[in-house]
Amino acid sequence: MPTIRFEGQDYFCASDETVLESLERHGVLLPSSCKSGACQTCLSRAIKGKPPAASQQGLKDTLAAQNYFLACICKPEEDLEIGLASVSPKYSATLISKDQMNESIVRLRFEIPDGFTYRAGQFINVIRPSDELTRSYSLASIPSDPFLELHIKRVPEGRMSTWLFDVVEAGEELSFFGPSGDCFYLSDDPERTLLLIGAGTGLAPLHGILRDALEQGHRGDIHLFHASLATAGLYLIDELRELSEQFSQFSYTPCVLHGDSPEGGKQGNVVDIPGQALGSFTGYRVYLCGDPQIVNALKQKAFLAGASMQDIHSDPFVFSPA
Ligand SMILES: Cc1cc2nc3c(=O)[nH]c(=O)nc-3n(C[C@H](O)[C@H](O)[C@H](O)COP(=O)(O)OP(=O)(O)OC[C@H]3O[C@@H](n4cnc5c(N)ncnc54)[C@H](O)[C@@H]3O)c2cc1C
Ligand code: FES
Repeated sequence: MPTIRFEGQDYFCASDETVLESLERHGVLLPSSCKSGACQTCLSRAIKGKPPAASQQGLKDTLAAQNYFLACICKPEEDLEIGLASVSPKYSATLISKDQMNESIVRLRFEIPDGFTYRAGQFINVIRPSDELTRSYSLASIPSDPFLELHIKRVPEGRMSTWLFDVVEAGEELSFFGPSGDCFYLSDDPERTLLLIGAGTGLAPLHGILRDALEQGHRGDIHLFHASLATAGLYLIDELRELSEQFSQFSYTPCVLHGDSPEGGKQGNVVDIPGQALGSFTGYRVYLCGDPQIVNALKQKAFLAGASMQDIHSDPFVFSPA
């Protein structure tokens, strides 16, 4: 049974238990959010001992070489002495505006803190000051915008999302760290067809990637499929339609599972609609964001439709069970 040494105390880690679970069982809470290796909120560093390679998935090589690891997916194979990591500086930003996009989604715009840089489509980790609760949110803005933009879906009983949705007001300061993630536009092949698919606030990173591609002069076709259960759950419809009128290479298809779709949209399952509309995805660069189940199903579909795995970029909005 490996031992975890943290802040001078030793804790036994049961077999098949992660560092995060073991410490939580002993009443020690590390910062965490997704609990599945996606958000890097639980980034830690082994001061003594070697973390398993599997606990370093998605980390930069330079961080992995310095024994950084993700506590939520680290099942130690030997004794570890660990410390919390502080590789990302914390930023503080004033909320400029808060707009309700539909019944369950708000758009937040912040001032850009000095020194903060990002690529459109990356995400940040927002920290609630009262208890340091941390959650990941994708940036919907592009670096040339004079603000940072987030789209927040209100999750029933959700601690962070209901706080952002109901409590935080324009003029208040929020803290965050990041950016993280590698789901962003690559400008190496401006003729390539881009396929962007997302449900709900999965539109946030896709909105950034789309506008970044257009700003950088992408010439290949760009197909965006944005899905919701029903028309009332869609948002930014007029803005996206205007972009499709302005840029002939861009097409926008709103998709709804139930009821009538808006004009120019499709009714059905978003996992099937892009394949039915486009046929083969061979040679496409594919971006999939939002609900993890939809993202995983689409990943398989995209691969079977001819997209190469290395051309499929995804940001599943994974969340941990209560
Ligand atoms: C890389 C990444 C990017 C993300 N980007 C965005 C974004 O741009 N916009 C956005 O709105 N969210 C985004 N998320 C999700 C976000 O981080 C939170 O998980 C979400 O806001 C819920 O947090 P909460 O504290 O409100 O809920 P919690 O208090 O953590 O959860 C409350 C309950 O709701 C359940 N739950 C949590 N989330 C969901 C969900 N989506 N659907 C159903 N049940 C749920 C939990 O299992 C729990 O039972 C992203 C997540 C990741 C990993
Ligand atoms: S990566 Fe560990 S909590 Fe998200």
